[in-house]
Amino acid sequence: MGVDCDNRRLIVGLIGLPGCGKSTVGRQLARRLQIPFFDSDQVIEQRLGTSVRVLFEREGEARFRDIEVDVIDELTRHERCIVSTGGGAVLRTENRLNLKTRCKVVYLRSEPGELYRRLRHDVSRPLLQVADPLKKLQELFSVRDPLYKEVAHFVIETDRPSIFHLVNRILAQLEVAGVNIPR
Ligand code: S3P
Repeated sequence: MGVDCDNRRLIVGLIGLPGCGKSTVGRQLARRLQIPFFDSDQVIEQRLGTSVRVLFEREGEARFRDIEVDVIDELTRHERCIVSTGGGAVLRTENRLNLKTRCKVVYLRSEPGELYRRLRHDVSRPLLQVADPLKKLQELFSVRDPLYKEVAHFVIETDRPSIFHLVNRILAQLEVAGVNIPR
């Protein structure tokens, strides 16, 4: 699957639809691997001093995507870290290339129905503030699932397992790929 086995450099990129658990899993994974964690949306929010939702409203999605490209480019140049990306990061070719070539990419794959169950009360995600968020998640899934699969080195079905279980599954996959996991 094209994963290199250089143990010195380790960037794990987490991709998947909103609500699949990228940030929560990423934070735990970073703790277990004892390396820094970055969430690309949080980095954008800190830099611009505004929420992603307000950024979408004021400057539009295209502007957000441009900033996201720069932030993901920067984060994936680190030596060792976990990078959780926004659900739409794979829409841009630059992000797909940078993630695929610089990271071990894990796709946390969830069905739209399950994501809807988790996100039905969420107000922070601009794309889901629509009359029928389930339909929107189904549309996002049909467009993005092939892109996530194209970029991913590992696909982890998330259904409803615990975060602990998901992190262990990712660590097991990384170990098989030759990464040293601290005990
Ligand atoms: C987006 C997902 C969000 C955030 C922005 C756009 C998307 O991140 O980047 O609202 O296009 O799916 P999460 O996947 O962390 O919700």
